[in-house]
Amino acid sequence: MTASGRDPGLEDELDRAAEHLRAGGAVAIPTETVYGLAADALNRAAVRRVFGLKGRRSDNPLIVHVSGIGMARDLVLAWPDRAQALAERFWPGPLTLVLERSGRVPEVVTAGGPTVALRCPACAPTLELIRRFGGPLVAPSANPSGGVSPTSAEHVRGVWPEGEVPVLDAGLCEIGIESTVLDLTVSPARILRPGALGAGELALAVPGLEVVEAWAGASAAEGSPGRVGPHYRPGAPLRLARTVAEIGGLIGRAGGAVVVISPPGAPVTVGPPHRHLTMPADPAGYARELYAALREADALGPALIVVGEPRESPEWAAVLERLRRAAATD
Ligand code: TXA
Ligand code: MG
Repeated sequence: MTASGRDPGLEDELDRAAEHLRAGGAVAIPTETVYGLAADALNRAAVRRVFGLKGRRSDNPLIVHVSGIGMARDLVLAWPDRAQALAERFWPGPLTLVLERSGRVPEVVTAGGPTVALRCPACAPTLELIRRFGGPLVAPSANPSGGVSPTSAEHVRGVWPEGEVPVLDAGLCEIGIESTVLDLTVSPARILRPGALGAGELALAVPGLEVVEAWAGASAAEGSPGRVGPHYRPGAPLRLARTVAEIGGLIGRAGGAVVVISPPGAPVTVGPPHRHLTMPADPAGYARELYAALREADALGPALIVVGEPRESPEWAAVLERLRRAAATD
């Protein structure tokens, strides 16, 4: 650090990353939720490169990351009062707002749809990178499509070598699961993906705001295939269990070594060849460690991963959605 508080190493890294983005390249960026695979949102070829690197279906739209409200307003047809109130209260932060897109946003970003998802991440180096680059960045989670999201730079480097995708390393992600996606094109507003911010918190913070939850069920697939089906999956099959007896039953039928990820705050110990991992008791702590735990379990090469399911409640909704999709088979 210099006397002015600037870190010359970081300054150089930010300049290089901005240059790489200007040349149409992809850069992995830290955010408070998970690492993202960023590219120039207004450059079609760069956006296509991100779809290609992830192996992502071209009908699944990307989130556009902005440095603030001003940049967001340039990308939408209208900026409703609800968006202003939510952005003032929660940006920078883990809230993605879906609004009608303006003609500036290339169709490839929104999978041809009429809406765009916007988010301002609460991560200083990434905000500085967006400012320095001077425009919005698409950034899906930096994992091959359908896999476990990365919460550290090492997770990203394990997929793409630094020469292919440079990583802006800011250590571990504070929140650990993805942002809440809120559709503001309808009334009441609809949560399309649960995240760190729950419906209650959103509604309480903005007087008069009505929010409904709409991520489950067949209708959720409409226009956004990213919302249903398997996702966040480790390599080994994963099953959920509600009781210690169910965990025992699954171990008995696994036909090989099992890794048990214990229910929140309730360690379950198993003997060799099986292994167990313990998890924090609170939803925020659990969310922060979830993806790293799935990776750790997978790295042990088990026949099966069994996860002790947290109890159904609003505070656990985002974690439960990730676990259910990690356990989904089709
Ligand atoms: O926390 C996050 O949001 C992370 C970090 C990197 O910012 N990003 C992230 O992006 O999770 P991704 O691509 O992994 O997930 C984006 C989700 C998908 O479920 C996608 O279908 C949905 O947002 N989405 C994107 N644009 C949309 C739109 N216009 N309408 C409805 N859903 C949209
Ligand atoms: Mg993702």
